[in-house]
Amino acid sequence: MTRYGIGLKTNDIPEDQPIRVDLGEGSIVIIKHAGQLHGMSSSCTHAGGPLEDGQVEGGELVCPIHGARFDVKSGAANMSAQQTSDVQTYKVEADPATGEVMIEA
Ligand code: FES
Repeated sequence: MTRYGIGLKTNDIPEDQPIRVDLGEGSIVIIKHAGQLHGMSSSCTHAGGPLEDGQVEGGELVCPIHGARFDVKSGAANMSAQQTSDVQTYKVEADPATGEVMIEA
């Protein structure tokens, strides 16, 4: 497990607006929802849609391609929207010393 700094602080991240972060081996979407930071894979488990282009509605990130919905906290797929699997999540938090947002991946 490696921690990556993204060069932003929590207040730099707008509420409910996904931000894509490329980590080399893959990319992650960071979402601030209700003031809490969450991270999930940027690739939709249905057909690889770009989740960074999705919208957050009711605590779920909605894929822009076919509408799959994923809980922003757990990555759980909402099966009433699209039959697909959960998306991988990542721990995202502010470094207590610097305030920089860090991803564990
Ligand atoms: S690619 Fe995301 S719902 Fe189909």
